[in-house]
Amino acid sequence: MTSKKILLSLLLLVFAIALKSQNYEESNVQPYTLPELLKTESGQVIATADEWMQIRRPEVLRLFEDNVYGQVPKSFDAIYFKKTREEKNVLNGKATVKEVNIIVTRNIKQVTIHLLLFVPNKVKKPVPAFLVINHRGMETMDVTRGNKDDFWPVEQVIDAGYALAGFDVKDVAPDDKERFADELLQKLYPDQLAMNNGMRALGAWGWGASRIIDYFETDPAVDAGKVVVVGHSRGGKAALWCGAQDQRVAVAISNESGNSGAKISRRNFGESVEAITKNFPYWFCKNYQQYANNEDKLPVDQHMLIALQAPRGVYVSAAEEDRWADNKGQYLSLIEAQPVFNLYGFNLNLPLQMPSVGNQLFEIPMGCHIREGKHDMTLYDWQQFIRFANTFFQKK
Ligand code: GCU
Repeated sequence: MTSKKILLSLLLLVFAIALKSQNYEESNVQPYTLPELLKTESGQVIATADEWMQIRRPEVLRLFEDNVYGQVPKSFDAIYFKKTREEKNVLNGKATVKEVNIIVTRNIKQVTIHLLLFVPNKVKKPVPAFLVINHRGMETMDVTRGNKDDFWPVEQVIDAGYALAGFDVKDVAPDDKERFADELLQKLYPDQLAMNNGMRALGAWGWGASRIIDYFETDPAVDAGKVVVVGHSRGGKAALWCGAQDQRVAVAISNESGNSGAKISRRNFGESVEAITKNFPYWFCKNYQQYANNEDKLPVDQHMLIALQAPRGVYVSAAEEDRWADNKGQYLSLIEAQPVFNLYGFNLNLPLQMPSVGNQLFEIPMGCHIREGKHDMTLYDWQQFIRFANTFFQKK
């Protein structure tokens, strides 16, 4: 073979490998078999909500811990809440803003989560709250409202009668390959770093949201039983993982979370496990690496993460142009998770077809929408979240 031909064949090979892991053609989606939701590892068939809760749910949770996101340590020595600011008349008198340092200690080390919380003034307390796992930095939540960002539309959320809370993920785990362990992992849980099923960034972010729910339990203005955890993309993966771990979460909202979030991993469309573990290894436990290009060996798939939210609320949103996130794969997870919700007496029967662009669909406690446009979390998305939450909490 001439060197030109060798080069050409090599290029073709690289192209074929890339195509295999990142397919964008529906006709190239290969058939797959999902792990069984309602059968335990030892073959027991799960037929009741009680059996799900007592037997299969803990098993599925452990499978996600061991193979995808890592363990989430539950113990620490102490937690303190230190209010650093409270202004009772912001947003033209409509809201009170608080900033609270949430300080968690273990073995004489500590981490501090800076919570930003807006609560509506003229509404009967306690109020339900949206809690955003924010990976876009504090600027997006600008407390002075000089820089209004649709990612954090506090005015609209307050007008709808909800509190809006948020924290920057960097307080617990910077979103960075080199520095992700700087906070929670090195300070409180260094033992996790040595474990193949140890916590990494996504686990830490969900852990952070849970500490904010700990704070809500002490604040009479917020209804800690009505917390909607919201995350966009990587934050959406963390929101689902948080809702799986922490059953105080009333609703988990995954906005365009895609691979390792709401999307079925075995469906080879858009981002693959290979791509995500290569680009973002520090989001997941080490064991997850072994499923790169090997999704069929995963003992779970992401519809099981949706099922772990049952019987609480779960909402999955998508953007038409966000092919990387695989909108159909995300919707299929909802469909596949329905049997677990139905064990609780719901009668979910979502249509096989995704809703068309610009439409919202919900059968409480599940909901979804797909909007036109690109990968982002917009005011339109928030309007749909609020509409879903109003129905879910039977508000107004
Ligand atoms: C990357 C990554 C996705 C992730 C997204 C985001 O595109 O591959 O998995 O969801 O970033 O967080 O915006």
